[in-house]
This record gives sequence, structure tokens and C-alpha cells, in this order.
Amino acid sequence: MMGGLPGSVEIFDATRDDLPEIVQIERLCFQQPWSRGSFERELTLPFSRLIVARVNNSTVGFLCRWLIAGEMHILNLAVHPKLRRLGIASRLLGYALEEARTKDATVVTLEVRRTNLAAQNLYRKFQFEERRLRRNYYGPGEDALVMERRLRSES
Ligand SMILES: CC(C)(COP(=O)(O)OP(=O)(O)OC[C@H]1O[C@@H](n2cnc3c(N)ncnc32)[C@H](O)[C@@H]1OP(=O)(O)O)[C@@H](O)C(=O)NCCC(=O)NCCS
Repeated sequence: MMGGLPGSVEIFDATRDDLPEIVQIERLCFQQPWSRGSFERELTLPFSRLIVARVNNSTVGFLCRWLIAGEMHILNLAVHPKLRRLGIASRLLGYALEEARTKDATVVTLEVRRTNLAAQNLYRKFQFEERRLRRNYYGPGEDALVMERRLRSES
């Protein structure tokens, strides 16, 4: 057993069977959650990938990314509120970054709320850097930071 989790974390590609748990986590995590239909659509898009973290066969977090023309974009990442600070988001993000390297992506980008310091800390830990601000991206007064991790330059 590691770090307070009741089992080890495993990463899988999501299937339709994961959607109820994903949608439940999404609703617990965001004020304007994606609908089930949004996740269903991601499962059909060839450039989209939805991965889940499972502990003891329960889905405890997920990440959605697009990979288009050598650029990875992270659209969504969330971990069940009861299982935070146990390294689950790090596992999901590490998996996505490893995939980006394997598939020769040059950059990984994402948007994060300017007020979401937990997520920003996570991304900084993975060497993402702030690039610019998108004002009112999430609604009036809710700015997004665009963060970016370059990949080729590190070799
Ligand atoms: C952001 C989120 C995904 C992090 O998930 P997590 O599994 O708790 O993250 P990890 O345990 O892998 O944390 C890795 C690092 O991120 C940072 N971090 C995570 N949560 C933090 C918090 N509440 N406060 C400060 N730093 C935090 C820390 O640097 C942490 O390392 P440490 O625990 O060794 O200090 C989770 O808080 C979440 O689901 N939030 C709601 C949804 C959301 O904001 N998603 C991101 C949208 S862009």
C-alpha cells in the first residue's frame, strides 16, 4: 500500500462503462460540469483520449486530452475530492506527458482558472509555464491562464 490509498493506482483508457463514475466526479469537482454527452463525444473523436485512474477497480480520477498535429492539449483533469493529495492527478498527468513524448509532440498546453492555485501548483511541478491570460474565459471576471510545457527542448 502506498501513500494512504487503499490500493495501487492504475491507468486505463476510459470506456462507456466508466462514464457514470466520471460524470459523478466531474459534478463534485466543477461548478459548470461537462455533461455526460460531452464525455460521450470525446470517446468518439479520433484525436481525443480519455483516461481514468482506478484504485481497487473504482474510478477515482480522469484526464481528457487532444493530440493534434504534434500538440497535446489537456481539456479536463479531476480527482475525487476524498482522494486528493495522494498523487492521483500526478499519475494521470505523468501518463499524458509520457504519451506526448512517445508520440513526438512538441508541446503540451492547457487552460486553468487564475484562482485555481491547487491545479497551477500541480502543473508547475510538471514544468508547465504560464504563457498568457485569457480574460473572462470561464465567464465574467473568471480569467484563464494558458500554461505550456515544451518537450523537445529538454533532451
Ligand atoms: C487539481 C487536482 C486535479 C489535483 O489532484 P490531486 O490528485 O490531489 O493532485 P496530486 O496529489 O497529484 O498533487 C500533486 C501536486 O499538486 C499540488 N497540489 C495539489 N493539490 C493542491 C492543493 N490543494 N494546494 C496546493 N497545491 C496542491 C502540489 O504541488 C502537489 O504535490 P504535493 O502533494 O507533493 O505537495 C484536484 O485538486 C482536483 O480535481 N481539483 C478540482 C478539479 C480541477 O481543478 N481540475 C484542474 C482543472 S485545470
